[in-house]
Amino acid sequence: MVQDMTALREGQRTRATAPFPSTFALKLVMAVTGVIFIAFVFVHMIGNLKVYGGPASLDSYAQWLREVGYPLIPHKGVLWALRVTLLVSLVAHVGASVILWARGRRARGRFRRRRSSGVTAWAARTMLLGGVLILGFLVIHLLDLTIGRAVAPGAYQPADADGTIHAYTNLVASFSRPWMAAVYVVWMLVIAVHIWHGWRTMAQDLGATGHRLRAVWATLGALIALAIVLGNALIPILVQLGVIA
Ligand code: HEM
Repeated sequence: MVQDMTALREGQRTRATAPFPSTFALKLVMAVTGVIFIAFVFVHMIGNLKVYGGPASLDSYAQWLREVGYPLIPHKGVLWALRVTLLVSLVAHVGASVILWARGRRARGRFRRRRSSGVTAWAARTMLLGGVLILGFLVIHLLDLTIGRAVAPGAYQPADADGTIHAYTNLVASFSRPWMAAVYVVWMLVIAVHIWHGWRTMAQDLGATGHRLRAVWATLGALIALAIVLGNALIPILVQLGVIA
């Protein structure tokens, strides 16, 4: 009986002090939303390759994004569903990362994390800074190519009254500025490091322990990051070289 009471009290204490949401739940949120972002950025990169087909190719793709599913789905329905999914994922990803970071700090107390060296340790240390930079670049990107405020003054062409979109012209006008082209290249490098490390830790956090499985997973992540950086960063570079004009 006394033992039962002690066990009950222990159980209550554990429940009372267990953090909510649990660290595992937060890591799961990071993983699921991370996969959503990686899938989006990868598919977006494939869409961006339409630039090689010239203005008609990119513009009609941008148009299609607004019309896809119509009349079953309203105009821009899929686009808005995507925007809402990305926004909710962003809030969850950033929120979970901030809680995990604060918990880590509290758990370490006044003890500093042991400095480890090597590329992976460096990538791990830069995750928070990388996340903040990616967010900053995303704001510039949306102002630049979606809202159109940051595109070279006078060069941004809003959609025509009949809905014709000038995605190609706006993209070339934007990337014609060397500083903006450089911003995009740096952004892609930061994203590549973030994806590469985030992808690896995802397997670890979700309990994948097999050495072989983790090696295959890490290679896949590195290939995805490389495809994203090459597919995207080449576009501003080729605009600067005058190949895309
Ligand atoms: C060099 C790389 C990139 C290029 C050339 C590019 C190009 C574009 C273009 C042309 C648009 C406007 C499309 C339209 O109006 O239909 C756009 C929109 C957008 N891009 Fe990118 N993008 C790049 C990288 C990225 C990355 C890495 C992300 C995410 C981290 C991203 C997120 C978005 C979002 C959220 C939109 C807005 C979609 C919307 O709500 O209409 N882009 N991008």
